[in-house]
Amino acid sequence: MSTHKKSDIKKITTHQLQEMKNRGEKIAMLTAYDYSMARIIDGAGIDVILVGDSASNVMAGNETTLPITLDQMIYHASSVVKAVKRALVVVDIPFGYYQGSSGEALRSSIRIMKESGAHAVKLEGGSEVKDSVLRILSAGVPVMGHLGLTPQSIYKFGTYTVRAKENEEAKKLIEDALLLQECGCFGVVLEKIPAELGKKVSSQLRIPTIGIGAGPDTDGQVLVMQDMLGITKEFKPRFLRRYADLNAVITSAVNNYVVDVKAKNFPSEDEKY
Ligand code: KIV
Repeated sequence: MSTHKKSDIKKITTHQLQEMKNRGEKIAMLTAYDYSMARIIDGAGIDVILVGDSASNVMAGNETTLPITLDQMIYHASSVVKAVKRALVVVDIPFGYYQGSSGEALRSSIRIMKESGAHAVKLEGGSEVKDSVLRILSAGVPVMGHLGLTPQSIYKFGTYTVRAKENEEAKKLIEDALLLQECGCFGVVLEKIPAELGKKVSSQLRIPTIGIGAGPDTDGQVLVMQDMLGITKEFKPRFLRRYADLNAVITSAVNNYVVDVKAKNFPSEDEKY
């Protein structure tokens, strides 16, 4: 358990992320969707927790991020916020809650901020979401962009393959990143793009870039927690480094529990009242 008192802990802010980029310190970001895991990763020193709409996949078992609702995202976000003492908490605005109009984008962001207590929102896209980004920022809500592979557009792309390999798409991505910066975004996630492009965008932007499959030169890295802990087994993209095999650990613990219960070895004399 963390030994910090709440008041001893310096909270991470968007300004601190900017300072980290300025001094060349890399930013560590992971996803979380619930209180218990958020508490562990916050205590372990993560800088940013993303309540990603990947909750749709890893928590709800959907094939894509599209089905998750705003209410569900707010539920996950408020569980995470209650656990966090230090990290900046960023919440994805889910598909269908910002594309319709900038007014809808603002209303969704205000609900996220008010009802979950999170610190910032993230949305996918560049020039096509400019009005929404500006409107949300005008209410004082920090916004993070997301370019490259944008999973909410999976049915437009048709595949989860590497984006912006061709010059035209790479040029548009750079323009979009600069636009998001000019709008006032405090950072941009770059997902599954060539490492050279990740490096180029990161050196052209003043604001931090956070990569997932965007090479080593982005200003920070993000992974989906279930993937890096080895809970999900089937998902094996090249960019994913597994830091644990929790699938095996949990399977073995549950197997042992089942054996003990069946064999009447649990509970023991010491484990009863
Ligand atoms: O939803 C999510 O987890 C994300 C990350 C992959 C960046 O957007």
